[in-house]
Amino acid sequence: MMSSLTVTAMSELVIRKACDVDFGDIYALEQKCFADPWSANMFDSFKRSNVTEAAVAELDGTICGFACIYVFDGTPECPCGDTELADIAVEPGCRRMGIAKKLLEHVYVRSKERFCSNVFLEVRESNTAARGLYESEGFCVTGRRKNYYASPREDAVLMKKELTAK
Ligand SMILES: CC(C)(COP(=O)(O)OP(=O)(O)OC[C@H]1O[C@@H](n2cnc3c(N)ncnc32)[C@H](O)[C@@H]1OP(=O)(O)O)[C@@H](O)C(=O)NCCC(=O)NCCS
Repeated sequence: MMSSLTVTAMSELVIRKACDVDFGDIYALEQKCFADPWSANMFDSFKRSNVTEAAVAELDGTICGFACIYVFDGTPECPCGDTELADIAVEPGCRRMGIAKKLLEHVYVRSKERFCSNVFLEVRESNTAARGLYESEGFCVTGRRKNYYASPREDAVLMKKELTAK
């Protein structure tokens, strides 16, 4: 993961499916980016699940962002599966460069490949950066879960994006 950051006009960004060895960097980035981060156990059960996948963003070969999703496949006959965006984060020094947007584009592509028509997520009410991202991506608010989050306690805003509509 990045300890210091040099982003130039020549820097190359690659978005790819995560593999097992990436989870050390993903875990470290998670601890850096959240007040109530996922624990190592949470990542272990995420990796063990057969309905999960993750993507990483690499800047000049160094992981600077990730997205973790649950995918409940549809079928070609009934392309009505669902994707749940469980976690997404970008290295603080690499924000507002469009990296989360690129990770979400990857999530949409993977979802469509697996015959999913909706992406769902929940976000802390006060998380203006994430809410700004999701709104700019066409997610709409579908509900709220009172006191869903701890440390600090806060409501979750539920959002959804239909993949057929852009
Ligand atoms: C939310 C987060 C992933 C966004 O990553 P990012 O790479 O900086 O986002 P992008 O550069 O792709 O931003 C795309 C758009 O989202 C919106 N956006 C992103 N950050 C924003 C902010 N701080 N305030 C308002 N809108 C914001 C903007 O519309 C932005 O487009 P613009 O830069 O052209 O204005 C990043 O801030 C982060 O890692 N936060 C901590 C972890 C977190 O909260 N994850 C979400 C959990 S639900």
